[in-house]
Amino acid sequence: MRLSTGRWVSGDDFFDRERELALLEAQVRDRNHLLVAGQRRMGKTSLLQELGRRLKADGWLFLFVDVEGATCPEDVIADLARELHPVRPMALRMASTMKDWFTENVDELSAFDFGVKFRAGLDAGSWRRQGEDLLRGCAAHDQPVLLVIDELPIFLKRLHRRDGNADRVDGFLSWLRGTLQGLGDGGPVVIVSGSIGLEPLVRRLGLADRINHLYPVRVGPWGREASVGCFERLAATTGMDLDGGVADAVYDALGVGIPHHVQSFFARLRDFAAMRGSSRLTVGNVADVYRGELLGPSGQNDLVHYETRLTEALGDEEHRLAMEILAEAATVGVFTPDARNRLEALYSTVVDSVGERIADALDVLVHDGYLEASPEGHRFVSRLLRDWWSARFRDHHLPLAVRVGGGVAPGS
Ligand SMILES: Nc1ncnc2c1ncn2[C@@H]1O[C@H](COP(=O)(O)OP(=O)(O)OP(=O)(O)O)[C@@H](O)[C@H]1O
Ligand SMILES: [Mg+2]
Repeated sequence: MRLSTGRWVSGDDFFDRERELALLEAQVRDRNHLLVAGQRRMGKTSLLQELGRRLKADGWLFLFVDVEGATCPEDVIADLARELHPVRPMALRMASTMKDWFTENVDELSAFDFGVKFRAGLDAGSWRRQGEDLLRGCAAHDQPVLLVIDELPIFLKRLHRRDGNADRVDGFLSWLRGTLQGLGDGGPVVIVSGSIGLEPLVRRLGLADRINHLYPVRVGPWGREASVGCFERLAATTGMDLDGGVADAVYDALGVGIPHHVQSFFARLRDFAAMRGSSRLTVGNVADVYRGELLGPSGQNDLVHYETRLTEALGDEEHRLAMEILAEAATVGVFTPDARNRLEALYSTVVDSVGERIADALDVLVHDGYLEASPEGHRFVSRLLRDWWSARFRDHHLPLAVRVGGGVAPGS
């Protein structure tokens, strides 16, 4: 198992998740379309890549389309065409039905050039028909087909942001649902996934029923056993010696087993030891590296990823409110109902329908795994995330109880 702190992992680098894989595989074999959701960096893409790798070994055709960069449905359909290009019967089928677009032999085009040509032929009037034709081609293919569409919510959010109109999002989701239902059990199995929640997005746009054909599956964190197991496996394969209790101390420091955080922590501990010419890790090193490295400037780079995703998930006003909520929960420890009332009072003159927007922001923060409800209010799920946000806002955030005095009675 190699250390990985960036892209998705699969095969020998993929650890655990056997239960999730078995569940997903059973659903896919039963021809159910799925919606896979989970917090940032939980390993959603890795899980789906590993599922695809295993199904491929069992005779399936596995197609993976990342639509993070798509700006319109035509881009998504062209991404799918590019993914289908290496499948010769599919490429020949596409080339013969779209003769006008391909003057040259499709075998001589790279997948990239094929996608560019395909995209050039598509427009707002034709993507539905052409997209349906590609999915119909999958249905006619002699292998069962699994199609993963990753980062779909980011694409839909971008569509929505273009003019604030839900129709475009509706158009795409309705097309996908209608086409898949039309193809029935013979069509490809589709898994939609993303690192911002699709459910809060469609709920806000009043389109919740457009995804009710997708069976929701949530990818949660590793428990102690898997987190410790992964850490020990990384140590063994990179030749590091661990004092007793080191892997458990890592899990305790993180507070929750987000796979990427386990990997990052290991990477920083290994570098810490290497800089001291050692290949041994102690429990004391864990505390030092947590404070000095993970919470330090270089560790904070990882936080940027979370911030970017939040900007993508929320509108400007909701984002502003979400940052207030996170700052409060990080520095005070909990975002209480009283703080919520005070936040509402504070922004009531500058933000329309502030109560609803706070509810929307909280909905996303809970769905995407930042916060969870507790009897006193909302708290961070991950200790590392809380400490990151706290380090960031400690010097700038005054508790809401201090900023908004009087106006609202505590607990009202
Ligand atoms: N099963 C796993 N075994 C080992 N490491 C993993 C596993 N799953 C995830 N990771 C670690 O987490 C990192 C992120 O994984 P991945 O990109 O799959 O997550 P994601 O949930 O899709 O993230 P994002 O929210 O950014 O899309 C990987 O680079 C790897 O370090
Ligand atoms: Mg991902």
